[in-house]
Parts: sequence; structure tokens; C-alpha cells
Amino acid sequence: MAWGLVSMTLRGLLSVVILLSTATSTDGRDVHVTCVFSEDCVLPCSFLPGSEEVIHWMKPEDKDLTIHSYYYSTDQLKQQSQRFRGRTALFNDQIPKGNASLLLRGITLQDQGRYKCYTSTIKGNMESFINIAVEAPVRLVDIELSDDIITCSSTGIYPEPKLTWSSDPPSDLSFDPGTIQNSTSIKVDDRGLYDITSTKQFSRDRTNICTVTSGTVERTATLKQHDPVQGSPSSEVSILCSVSQSDLLTFDLTWRFNQIDTILTSTYTNSTSQMYVDDQWKDQVQSLSDSGSLQLHKLTMVHQGTYSCELSTARDTHLILTYLQITPDKLSDVSDGLSPGSITGIIIAAVIIAAVICYLLRGFLCKSKPTWSQAMNTISPEEEESLSAAANTNGPNENDQSGKPLQNEEGREEDRERQQQGQGEEGSAISTLVIP
Ligand SMILES: *[C@@H]1O[C@H](CO)[C@@H](O)[C@H](O)[C@H]1NC(C)=O
Ligand SMILES: *[C@@H]1O[C@H](CO)[C@@H](O)[C@H](O)[C@H]1NC(C)=O
Ligand SMILES: *[C@@H]1O[C@H](CO)[C@@H](O)[C@H](O)[C@H]1NC(C)=O
Repeated sequence: MAWGLVSMTLRGLLSVVILLSTATSTDGRDVHVTCVFSEDCVLPCSFLPGSEEVIHWMKPEDKDLTIHSYYYSTDQLKQQSQRFRGRTALFNDQIPKGNASLLLRGITLQDQGRYKCYTSTIKGNMESFINIAVEAPVRLVDIELSDDIITCSSTGIYPEPKLTWSSDPPSDLSFDPGTIQNSTSIKVDDRGLYDITSTKQFSRDRTNICTVTSGTVERTATLKQHDPVQGSPSSEVSILCSVSQSDLLTFDLTWRFNQIDTILTSTYTNSTSQMYVDDQWKDQVQSLSDSGSLQLHKLTMVHQGTYSCELSTARDTHLILTYLQITPDKLSDVSDGLSPGSITGIIIAAVIIAAVICYLLRGFLCKSKPTWSQAMNTISPEEEESLSAAANTNGPNENDQSGKPLQNEEGREEDRERQQQGQGEEGSAISTLVIP
């Protein structure tokens, strides 16, 4: 019993001793410190307090380059290497307590390596070594879509990053021509940091994920496309930004038009948000919902295009693209306030009425099995009257009909454009239904 207790106490003591020895590096092992590029970094060093302190910080691998010296109770910087001018400081008030740690400002890649901290007091002298690694962590991964090619990039990274593509739901890599991984290129900038960029064919039926990893840091950017949304000058449109935000407290949200113009930016901190709307979009932006969806109104044809919602947290960037197609309210006065859906309904109803009339009178006027166009062309004056009466009570009149072919031509052109841009096929249904 007593022995068990003693051995446990001994083991406890032993682990305390081991902890102490790694923390103070009295066993001669280097202390490892990771500093962040361009930021400040503290190189730790401590000694047994005593009067008449002398402190020398040096870089042994660079011919004992002098980094910072201290004696006669003051900094002595005459011997200091040019590279460290104005970048170093000791914590002078801490020196009497045995703290010789060095503050090094504006870390560069050249600062990597082994440092020596030499201290001396009337009680004796000490040496310790500190090994510095420098990291420029991946901060932002940028993702964009152009002509069905996704480009993913990140800049100012150290050490050398890796980039991988994946998708959600996952796809069988061997069948996805877009996952050829060697479209990735890396270059080094004048500071020694890495820029990485990679391109891939866009998989439109899933979320495209790009992951950049450097050291222990990993950041991702995702891109997906929602189905196109229809809008008109007289209607309100809601464009969704559906990213699961259950665990998000702090994030930035940016809505852009055609991936270039910023519509609005919003910063969410602990469920309070601040929003800035660009002047050019003040009339169109009605509101931003809690989930980040954008409500627009007073739209004109110039607002047709791709709307992107970019949601970024410290870890990830999510980009969601939605194409908004604007259908003009061509059916002027009467149709004001009618949605494109109900207009289509009215036209279909008119066609059906015509078909029924034609069917009832088929013995007199129509040949057997009339086509729609024959039905429309062989209507007697009386029928035309009743037909146009029916149509008029519902909206469309002769003038609108004559305007149709042009509108339809526009519609086709838009469709062609959208197909080039790789957008969906909705909307073409409307332009063909409008034909009668
Ligand atoms: C020395 O002082 C600095 C500044 O207060 C502190 O950050 C550092 O942790 C101290 N180092 C030691 C070894 O006490
Ligand atoms: C990419 O892969 C193809 C086929 O494996 C090869 O021919 C080409 O040289 C590679 N390109 C680069 C930049 O590695
Ligand atoms: C957010 O909330 C957390 C916990 O409720 C709090 O500690 C933190 O200070 C808040 N941050 C801001 C910016 O309000």
C-alpha cells in the first residue's frame, strides 16, 4: 500500500521534472517556435535572475550574426546586423526577473533558423537555442467560374502548398475528366511565398470543392450552381444563399452580379449583422434575409445575369451562383401585376377554348384531325369575335400578338447566350408557349 503511494508520487515527480526540462531546454535541446510571416514573434529565453545582466542574441549559422545585445542595464545595438535594425526588442522590465525573451517584428522567411540566447550575471552564464520556423498560412482560397472552367487559387503561402479537388456528393474520379490534378501550377513570389492555382471542368450537378493545404493549415472553397430563377420588372425575386449556417456565428457575406459588381456586403458577428449596399443597387435591393437570401425588386433587363453569394468564414469560402432571367412585362396595362406564370396560363386557356370551338364546329370548318395552326387559320368571323372577346377579357390583344415574334427572337438569343454561359434551360419553355 505504502509502496504503491510512494511509487505514484515518484512517477508524478518524474513527469514534473520531464515537463520542466522540455520547457526550459536545460538539457541542451532546442526550443522550437513557429512564427507567422510578417507578424511579430517572441523568441523565449530565461535565466536565473542576478545582477549585472548581459544578454546576447545571435544567429550561429550566420557567423554569429549579432541580433540584439544588452549590458550596463541598457540595449547595445552598435554591433546589430543591418537585417535586424529596428525589428528587435527585449522586455526590459522583465529582465530582472530572468526573462531575456526577444521580440522580433515583421517576420520574413530569412528569419528561419537557429538562434542562440547567451545570458550572464554575477551568478554565472547560460546558453540556450531556439529554432524558428516561419509559416504563411493559407488564409483565403479564391474560387471562380468562367466558361465552365473553375479556377481555384490562393496566394502568399509558406511552406509549399498542395491543392486538391473533390465534390459533394463525391464522384468517381476516373469518370470525371475535370479531376486531372496536373492543371495545378505553383510559383514563388519575390518574398519567397507560394502562389498556387488550379483549374478544373465545372461539375454542374454537384458542389465543387477545392482544398489548399500548407503545413497544418487547410482551407477550402466550394462552388455550386442553383437552378435559374425567373423575374420580371413588376415582381419581387428572392435569390437563395442556402449554406448550412447552423454552426456559423461569424462570417462575411457578399452578393455580386456577374461575379464582378458588388451588390452588397454584410458582416455577421454573433448574430448581429452590418450591411453595406452599393449605391448602384440601392433601388433593387429590398432586403437580405437572415439566411442570407437576397430580395430584389424594380428589376430591368440590365439586371439579368448571374448572381453570386459568397459566404466566407475563417476556414472556408462558399460560392453559390444563380442565373436570374428577366422576362419583360410586355402585356402592358391589363397585365400589370400579373406574373409570367398567370399570363402563360391565360394564353393556354385561350388556345384550349379555340380548340374546343374548333372541335364543336369541325364538321363545317375543320378537316379531320386539325393541327393547332390550321385551327387558328380557319376560324370563321363569328368565332374570331367570340375568341377575341374571350382573349380580351383575359388580357392579350392584337397589338401584343404583333409584338410577339420580336420578343420571341430576343428570348431565343438569351437562351443561346445562357447556354454558352452554361446556364440551365428553364425559360425556353415560356418563349415557346407564347407563340400562338
Ligand atoms: C517574458 O516576458 C514576455 C513579455 O511579458 C512574455 O511574453 C514572455 O512569456 C516572458 N517569457 C518568460 C520565459 O517568462
Ligand atoms: C499532365 O499530364 C499529362 C498526361 O499525364 C502530361 O502529358 C503532361 O505533361 C502533364 N503536365 C504537367 C504540367 O505536368
Ligand atoms: C460573441 O459571443 C461570445 C460568447 O457569447 C463572446 O465571448 C464574444 O465576445 C462575442 N463577440 C462579439 C464581437 O460580440
